[in-house]
Amino acid sequence: MRRKLVVGNWKMNGSRATNASLLQGIVDGLNGASAACAVCAPAPYLAQCADTLKGSPVSWGAQDVSAHAGGAYTGEVAASMLADFGCTYVIVGHSERRAYHAESSELVAQKAVAAIDAGMTPIVCVGETLAEREAGQTAVVVRNQLGRVLERLDADGMAKIVVAYEPVWAIGTGKTATPEMAQEVHAQLRKQMLEKNAVAADKVQILYGGSMKPDNAKELMAQPDIDGGLIGGAALKAADFLAIIHAAA
Ligand code: G3P
Repeated sequence: MRRKLVVGNWKMNGSRATNASLLQGIVDGLNGASAACAVCAPAPYLAQCADTLKGSPVSWGAQDVSAHAGGAYTGEVAASMLADFGCTYVIVGHSERRAYHAESSELVAQKAVAAIDAGMTPIVCVGETLAEREAGQTAVVVRNQLGRVLERLDADGMAKIVVAYEPVWAIGTGKTATPEMAQEVHAQLRKQMLEKNAVAADKVQILYGGSMKPDNAKELMAQPDIDGGLIGGAALKAADFLAIIHAAA
């Protein structure tokens, strides 16, 4: 039985003051929730998360990581540096990085491996654009995106990733995939991992992302292969984020 996982992706939002009250609000409202939860903050605020969340059940993560181990890469953050602070998760391959920073699936795969090698859990994002969905390409697109990561991992490595299915057309738009649409893709992703190793595939949490909110979270997470959520906008308000965490039975 996979434990549900709810992760907030703050994207490029926050300040020391708003983060402090958001983090405290989350910690105070958890009340023994059964789901695991984490927040992925902008890089300058990771140390704040590490300090504030110390000893709490809330984990924290980064939104990106360098594929390089260290050295002359101005502006990059190495996986070892994140691990040094106690970072648990790293989002890799978010569609905003693929679209605005031209990240290829190959680079995403390298970043996922860098995170695993440093002892962290990469949250590997996959998802189709609206044009790709309308062209009937969803299955091929997400298979190729995940496939590039899987080809670099053995079964043990695969068991160390989290996958997030985020249809690009549902991100920040208020449009959500129906539970059936999302489950169809999640089941396909699970099957792809099963082809590699059944035991490991069964352990991998597959999160849904794309306008998940308190009012649709329960139904989405009731699907057999939807193991939680990667939350954008609704993760910026403690009450909404907590409602999603508590909706994950
Ligand atoms: O990574 C989370 C994400 O892209 C979904 O964003 O605002 O639609 O929940 P949002």
